[in-house]
Amino acid sequence: MQLAKNDILARLVETDPARLEELWLAADSLRRQYLGDAIHLRGLVEISNICVRSCAYCGLRTGRSDLKRYRMTLPEILEAARRIASHSFGTIVLQSGEDQGITQSWLAQVIARIKTETGLAITLSLGERSHSDLEGWRIAGADRYLLRFETSDRTLFGCIHPPRPGQTSDRFKTLEWLGQMGYEVGTGIMVGIPGQTYTSLADDIGLFRDLDVDMVGIGPFLPHPATPLGSAHHPSGPDQVPNSETMTLKVLALTRLNCPTINIPSTTALATISDVSREHGLKAGANVIMPNFTPRQYRLLYDIYPSKTDVDENDELFPDVIKARIHSMGRTVGQGPGRRPRHRS
Ligand code: 5AD
Repeated sequence: MQLAKNDILARLVETDPARLEELWLAADSLRRQYLGDAIHLRGLVEISNICVRSCAYCGLRTGRSDLKRYRMTLPEILEAARRIASHSFGTIVLQSGEDQGITQSWLAQVIARIKTETGLAITLSLGERSHSDLEGWRIAGADRYLLRFETSDRTLFGCIHPPRPGQTSDRFKTLEWLGQMGYEVGTGIMVGIPGQTYTSLADDIGLFRDLDVDMVGIGPFLPHPATPLGSAHHPSGPDQVPNSETMTLKVLALTRLNCPTINIPSTTALATISDVSREHGLKAGANVIMPNFTPRQYRLLYDIYPSKTDVDENDELFPDVIKARIHSMGRTVGQGPGRRPRHRS
């Protein structure tokens, strides 16, 4: 079913609790119908917090002199990969800032070693990289690539995500390349960016389907005090989308209705809102969780946004805790790599 833009807009502004409950239930039942009850676990490793970009929302932006920078070594990454495999997860996600020190040849070696030693599916989330880098990593064995377009409003995107001097950035072009190279492709957005309107948000949801991506990550915008968008007070008119849990869940559920077979994580950014937000995501269409396996000494340095409630996330036992929570929800732990099913809706 393809939702019309007006239909999406009407549900984005819905406030009636009974109608919202219907929306969560519709998304949940479509998720069950197409994907079953399995929740796939992906082990996240934040391999570098070095970044050349100066995004107005992100705490890793270049020029933040108060933030100590790191890049993990090959042995450290392999160690994290082994831990992920030892918990029977099917996928490792390697994420970083846009770090030019992550060269094609070095990362190709990392990818090859992870593949031969663990057999894990490998997802990369390393920002905007060249055609040749992306191709090289695909050949080396990477399976998936995540690149959120953040907002389809080109003017807003330009304001919050300035290009590197003398260069242009076109995330839609990069997403197209990734598909052509045979990657499974993930994208996504932040909900409640200052200046984001309901109309543009409805366009974002329509685009997920038009782009035919395999995965969509949706999280609330979380103001970071060390960034230009970090101040708590922004001019807000009636068309400003709030960065609330409910609004994030609406976008998640509508994305599920529009794209029944894709993988949708209940994101860490959503989980920072309250202790039950992650579960709410899983009951409104999500089917993936990405527990953090970044070594302890680097966790706080991967300071994209301020996080309050990741206390249990930092516990060694978190993978087991999360499995217990999955079972207590009446769901099962996904086996294997958890690819998007091949049949299309
Ligand atoms: N609030 C919420 N999400 C953020 N991201 C980056 N900074 C923030 C923030 N302040 C998200 C972006 C990026 C992903 C890796 O993290 O959507 O694509």
